[in-house]
Amino acid sequence: MTPTPKNKTPTAIYQGLPPGIMPTLRVMPIPSDANIHGDVFGGWIMAQVDIAGAIPATRRANGRVATIAVNSFLFKHPVFVGDLLSFYAEVVKVGITSVTVNVEVYAERNRLEAETVKVTEATLTYVATGEDRKPRPIPPLESLTKAGADADI
Ligand SMILES: CC(C)(COP(=O)(O)OP(=O)(O)OC[C@H]1O[C@@H](n2cnc3c(N)ncnc32)[C@H](O)[C@@H]1OP(=O)(O)O)[C@@H](O)C(=O)NCCC(=O)NCCS
Repeated sequence: MTPTPKNKTPTAIYQGLPPGIMPTLRVMPIPSDANIHGDVFGGWIMAQVDIAGAIPATRRANGRVATIAVNSFLFKHPVFVGDLLSFYAEVVKVGITSVTVNVEVYAERNRLEAETVKVTEATLTYVATGEDRKPRPIPPLESLTKAGADADI
């Protein structure tokens, strides 16, 4: 194991991120994800948010889902190439065939100085679908496998 350098604590690396929970997804935008000003395209962030949100939705639905709605989306701060983005996705509502997920995105920039900014927050609804791509009921929580039971609700 690599020793921690003097005057740098491992916890400093995670400063500003929600404590005690693992991000659903972590990704770093590269230059092709940016516009000519160097800020990352909103559409690229939306795609990553959709991917992150689909992870707990798929677990809770115990199978395939389709995004039916982006209920809200807030780009509170810009994202830059090289930011390390952490996506925290949590199921907030389960309907008959739908699962609604809240996704929060944090950017770690100037990581050696542990500067962390909450950049984006969104809520999306996914519909559980069958092989025929039609809606199917969300299974009761008790019937789920271990992976499903570990979903966020
Ligand atoms: C997802 C799909 C199969 C759903 O079929 P549908 O006949 O439109 O579904 P329904 O009208 O029965 O609604 C299904 C669920 O979505 C919910 N829903 C519908 N419109 C919604 C909206 N605007 N916002 C939030 N939830 C909505 C309904 O309330 C319902 O939830 P419930 O069963 O938990 O009560 C169909 O709309 C579809 O294939 N859409 C394209 C999906 C896609 O390609 N997504 C990727 C594009 S980025």
